[in-house]
Amino acid sequence: MPTQNHLIKAPFDPSPYADMVEELLNKMTVAEKVGQINLECVDDFEGLTEWNLGSPAEEGSIMDKLRRGCVGAVICRGFEKNTKLQQIAVKESRLGIPLLFGYDVIHGHRTIFPIPLGTASTWDPSILEKTEEFAAKEAYSDGINWVFAPMIDLCRDPRWGRVAEGAGEDPLLASLIAQAKVKGFQTVNPDTGYPYVAAGFKHYCGYGLSEGGRDYDACSINEQTLMMDYMKPYAAAVDAGAMNAMSSFNVLNGEVVTASRYYLTEILREKFGFGGFVVSDYGSVAELIEHRVAGDLKDAASIAITAGVDMDMASGTYLDHCEALYKDDSRFAEAIDEAVRRILSVKFALGLFEHPYNEEHPEFTASSESIELAREVARKSAVLLENKNGTLPLDKSKKYLLLGQLADSLRNMIGTWALCSPELPHHTVKGAMEEGNYSFVYHVGYPMDESEWDADLRASQFDEVLSLADECDGVIFVCGEPESWSGECSGSATLEIPGIQTELLRKLKEKGHRVTSVLMCGRAVACREISELSDALLLAWHNGSEGGAAVCDCIFGDCNPSGRLPITFPYHVGQIPIHHALLSSGRPRERYGRYRNCTAEPLYPFGYGLSYSEIRYNGAVIDNPTLSADDTLRVRVEIENLSDIPVCETVQAYFKDNVSSVPTPERKLCGFAKAELAPHSKVEVALLIPASRFALMTRDLREIVESGEFTLFIGHDSTCKLSLPFTIE
Ligand code: GLC
Repeated sequence: MPTQNHLIKAPFDPSPYADMVEELLNKMTVAEKVGQINLECVDDFEGLTEWNLGSPAEEGSIMDKLRRGCVGAVICRGFEKNTKLQQIAVKESRLGIPLLFGYDVIHGHRTIFPIPLGTASTWDPSILEKTEEFAAKEAYSDGINWVFAPMIDLCRDPRWGRVAEGAGEDPLLASLIAQAKVKGFQTVNPDTGYPYVAAGFKHYCGYGLSEGGRDYDACSINEQTLMMDYMKPYAAAVDAGAMNAMSSFNVLNGEVVTASRYYLTEILREKFGFGGFVVSDYGSVAELIEHRVAGDLKDAASIAITAGVDMDMASGTYLDHCEALYKDDSRFAEAIDEAVRRILSVKFALGLFEHPYNEEHPEFTASSESIELAREVARKSAVLLENKNGTLPLDKSKKYLLLGQLADSLRNMIGTWALCSPELPHHTVKGAMEEGNYSFVYHVGYPMDESEWDADLRASQFDEVLSLADECDGVIFVCGEPESWSGECSGSATLEIPGIQTELLRKLKEKGHRVTSVLMCGRAVACREISELSDALLLAWHNGSEGGAAVCDCIFGDCNPSGRLPITFPYHVGQIPIHHALLSSGRPRERYGRYRNCTAEPLYPFGYGLSYSEIRYNGAVIDNPTLSADDTLRVRVEIENLSDIPVCETVQAYFKDNVSSVPTPERKLCGFAKAELAPHSKVEVALLIPASRFALMTRDLREIVESGEFTLFIGHDSTCKLSLPFTIE
């Protein structure tokens, strides 16, 4: 058993390792130092089918580079593979410095949880700490000791494909989730006393602001909103002890982040106190040439290393040019030495010099606990958007037409960035209904791929569907978008789901069928028609390995849906950007229109979600309605469950600074608490809201809590009306 728990200090503090680092650094040649700041990608998508380590490596191969100490980290998974790579690095290189093995573990590794935008709908950071603990253990067992996660880019534009990977629009919810995920990933391995993996939050910074939802395009926002909203989750990840950050591809407010000393050093290190190392995103050091801020690769290397990018992911630019830079100019030598120190500090903090090899734990992979957790989280991620005339829960004794390609597609259901083979135990909706012995017939409906929309086939297929529906008591329509429509480089100029689905739903409704629609997607999609046509609408998201089982649990009443939207669902794509914390205007929305041809209101607001229960807010009290700026607002809310079934409510609190020195939002999330209520019961929910959450950002970027009158709004979602005054003196 380990002598001590090497729990990571939060924020990560490299100082305990300084002596060991310095001693090692002084032994290193320049070439070996440059090796540490070089990350190679050797994963399967490198086409490495014959993993042959036996034969002498040819010049320039991975094996050769490892033996020469020219690699500090690799992107690779696979217990056997990574063990062999580590053996070469540790036993065959001159100094035997162990490797970091990094991988994308965005929402689970082998057991897949719902996409992060889906799990954000749980509003439950504690369960997300658990998911990342399981993900870390599965990744560790697969030879990984560093994850390129959590992705915590705030996003208020669902056209951006990577909105799927983050925690939505709100800085408080995203920050609490970021902290929980970092802690979960960096769970201490009881066998070694060190964390299973290092957490690497991304993409620092502001990547979720990609203009027009066009991935990789420039990002811009006023500095006050940037610091008050978009930077908060990154700062929270630093506070939670993350050992790594990934610099983003984008330009932000006129600076290429991967070349920006302001963002990477002055803000991330000097303001937020980050003590770990920064890795570039894939190839983004070399891409400084495409950005036209570097004339050649040596120039790119010199800019990035002095900005604060400590490790070059997969472009080879540092490997090729930093040795010369080191010898050319002491500025670059100092920057390279500092980068190596940061990387070595993390390797010491992970215990890699004591335990360079991961221990194999097959029992970690797809354990019954992780599969059950995947199902529980998928249940809690589901958001009930419509339930007209009590359509749900469905009667298990009836016969249903299960319709839709997504009802039987594991690959689409598990969502984007689920890189490992999904051949593990899983349940699509169809699989879960078969296992649950439900009475149903299945029809694919129509493929989502428009190229297959043959007019004649379409007509015959629709007739088939309609005749099957006539034989059933109801229809369960699993619709939405393919997983390939979300994720990296998957922006969408509209928010539409494949139109054929709405057409099919309309035909079913014309025939008078009752339809429960289940929406699987990776973004806030334009679901107005689906919403109007469906008798019930459950937003399931792309919801992981157990997504189908969770859908059945929800629609057949084995669980009472409790998810709440972490992002605003627009009424129309033209409303974007739209979110709940809009600044006040001289002409209030409720009195002045904003569009001549569209409402200014969203289809579903931030925080929205129904359940099978009626919940009544009986009142709220602020125990300390006058408080100081360093105090905590103490609120008690009585809520009542008027139904016959248990329910979980997420009580939400929003605030308004009645008069502020700079414009502030009409309302903004400042707290929330989940409460389980037994049938026909009342509970008093306590909310403790630090006054620091009522701060504003001045024009000169000072975050301050101004004294004055405030209004607190309490309720079920961001449109809640129950309000209470309070004063900060
Ligand atoms: C990708 C993504 C990043 C990922 C990295 C390694 O381009 O931007 O999120 O971690 O490359 O796969």
